[in-house]
Amino acid sequence: MCGIVGYVGNKDAYPILIKGLHRLEYRGYDSAGVALINPVGKLNVYKTKGKVAELEHFVTNKDVSGTIGIAHTRWATHGEPSDVNAHPHYSENGQIALIHNGIIENYGVLKTMLMGKGYTFRSDTDTEVLVQFIDYLRNENQCTLFEAVQAALNQVIGAYAIAVLDKDNNNEIIAARKSSPLVIGIGDGEYFLASDATPIVEYVQNVVYLNDGEIAVINRNKPLKIVNLDNIESKIDIRKLEMNISELEKGGYPHFMLKEIFEQPRTITDCIRGRINLEGTEVILSGILDNKDRFLNARRIIFVACGTSWHAGLIGEYLFEDFCGIEVKVEYASEFRYRNPVIHNDDIVIAISQSGETADTLAAIELAKSKGAFVYGICNVVGSSIARATHSGTYIHVGPEIGVASTKAFTGQVTVLVMMAMMIARLKGRIDDAKYREVLKGLLVMPEKIKEALAQHEHIKDVSAIFTYAHNFLYLGRGCNYPTAMEGALKLKEISYIHAEGYPAAEMKHGPIALIDNEMPTIVIATNVSIYEKTISNIQEIKSRGGKVIAVVTTGDSVVSKMADHCIWVPETTECLTPLLSSIPLQLFAYYIAVNKGRDVDQPRNLAKSVTVE
Ligand code: AGP
Repeated sequence: MCGIVGYVGNKDAYPILIKGLHRLEYRGYDSAGVALINPVGKLNVYKTKGKVAELEHFVTNKDVSGTIGIAHTRWATHGEPSDVNAHPHYSENGQIALIHNGIIENYGVLKTMLMGKGYTFRSDTDTEVLVQFIDYLRNENQCTLFEAVQAALNQVIGAYAIAVLDKDNNNEIIAARKSSPLVIGIGDGEYFLASDATPIVEYVQNVVYLNDGEIAVINRNKPLKIVNLDNIESKIDIRKLEMNISELEKGGYPHFMLKEIFEQPRTITDCIRGRINLEGTEVILSGILDNKDRFLNARRIIFVACGTSWHAGLIGEYLFEDFCGIEVKVEYASEFRYRNPVIHNDDIVIAISQSGETADTLAAIELAKSKGAFVYGICNVVGSSIARATHSGTYIHVGPEIGVASTKAFTGQVTVLVMMAMMIARLKGRIDDAKYREVLKGLLVMPEKIKEALAQHEHIKDVSAIFTYAHNFLYLGRGCNYPTAMEGALKLKEISYIHAEGYPAAEMKHGPIALIDNEMPTIVIATNVSIYEKTISNIQEIKSRGGKVIAVVTTGDSVVSKMADHCIWVPETTECLTPLLSSIPLQLFAYYIAVNKGRDVDQPRNLAKSVTVE
C-alpha cells in the first residue's frame, strides 16, 4: 500500500524519484506526487490523481531541479483518490512536506486540536494532519525537524512509514517507520529511501532496514543516524542486497504477471536449490534443522496468512496432517488477530507471506508471540518485516513478484511447504523411503513438468476466448486441489473482475449446484489420483444439468476428456505435487481472460500488491 521514495545526494533527484515510483507502482496507483527543494531553497510540490505517468505529464515544463526530494504513489485509505488528497502533503506555511504509508488512527482528535489553534486543511487525509502536527510542534517547542517528528510520533496512534522534508534544510530527509516498511540505501555521498529495495537496487548494494519505532536522520553530509522514539541511538546494521535489476523488468513480456507465470520453472529450481540433493534422496531446510525438537514435539501447526498465501496454507494442512501426523489449523490472519485464539506453548505458528509486509499477518505473528508460540515464517522478500519478526523461517526465493496477482509466489510457497512436510515426516519416522524419494524426485523434475504445462498456453488462450464474457465461474477441486481451485478463482476475480467461487467439488450438491446452467462455466481440477472417480461423478452432475465444464486433467486422461467441454492437460506427478501443476493453467486462464477484457492485468483496480494497512 503506497510507495515511498526519497533521495538526497549529488545527482538530480527527480529522475531517480520518478523511476523509483514506477518500480513501486505495484504498491498503489491511484495518485502520485513529488516534493523537491530546488537549488535556491524553494520547495516545489507536484501531485496528481492517477498513475505515475500522469504525474510525469503534469510536471512537464515545471521546475524539477534539486538534489533532494521525496515521492509517493498512493493507495487511498482516508479520502478519495484526487489531486488534493495525493501526497506529498505540506504544512499550511509551506515549510514542511511529508509522504506517508499507513493510517494515523487518532487523526480526528489531532485535527480538532490543530483547528482550535487556527490551522486549516486542504485535504481529507490523515497525512495532512500529521504534517501540520509536526509543524505545530516545531513552532511550539522551537526545535529541529527531527525533534518535532520524534515528538509527534510519540503522540500518534497508528501505522506509518514517513519521509519528511524541511524547505530550509536541503541536506536532510527525516524518515520513520512503525508497521510499514522502509529501507535506506547508502551510497557515496548520497542516500536512497524506499518502501522496498526495488527502486534502490540499481544504485547501491548496501542497505539498512528501519525497524519499528525508529527514526532516521538522512543527511548527505553526515553518516546515517538512527534513533528510536525514546531517543536511544540504534546500531547501523548494513545488509547487502541480493536482488538482480533484470528481475525488475518485464523482459519482453507484455505484463509482469505473464513473465512471472513463465518464470516458474526457474523459480522452482531456485526454491529447491541447495535444499534437495541432486539424487533426490534428502531435503534439508536449515530453519527446520535449527528447531528440530520444536517441530518433532509440536502439538499443532497453525498457519496464518491472507489471500493467496492463505490458500498455500490450506495445501500445507493436507501435507502436514497426511505426512507428519500433526494437527493443523489454517487461519485468516485478519480474523485470528482479533480473536482470543487458544495457543499452547508447544504450538508452532507458521506465517506465510510473499511480501513479508502484510499488516494482518504481522499482527497475527505478534499475537502468537505474546501467547508464547514459536513463529516460523515462509516469505519471499528477504529482510521483510515478517521475515524479521519471526523466530525462524524459510525463504521461497522466487525473486521479486511485481504483478499484483500472485503466481510464482504461490508455487514457491507450496514447494517450501512440501519440503518442510517431507523433512519433518522423515525426522518423525512417519514416511517410508520410497514415498519420501518419490516426492523429492517429483520436485526435482517439477521445473520440466511446469514447462510442459506452460507449453499449453496457446490452447488455454483459445479456451479463454470462448469464456471471456461469462459473468460467473465455479472452480472445483478435491483434496489438495480444493485450495488450488480457490486460488484459481481468486486469480480470475482480481484481474478480470469476473465473479468466481472456489469450492470443494463434493460440496456442490449442498447448494451451489443450483447455480448451474449453460451460462455458468465450471472449471474442474481432475488431476488427483486418489479421488479421481469421485471427481468424475461431480463432472457428471454438472453436465447433466447443462453446465459447461473446462477440466484440468493429467496427460493421457481418456475419461474426463470425453465428458468435459474443454480439457487442459498437465503432466502426471505424485498426488501431493499436483497443485504445482494444476495451478499453472488456472493462472494462464485468468491472465488471458483479463487481457481479452482489456483489464489492467498488473495493476487491477482497487488492489495493491502489499497490504500494509488492515
Ligand atoms: C494474491 O493474488 C493477492 N494479490 C493477495 O491475495 C495476496 O496474496 C495477499 O494480500 C497476501 O499477501 P502476502 O503474501 O504478501 O502476505
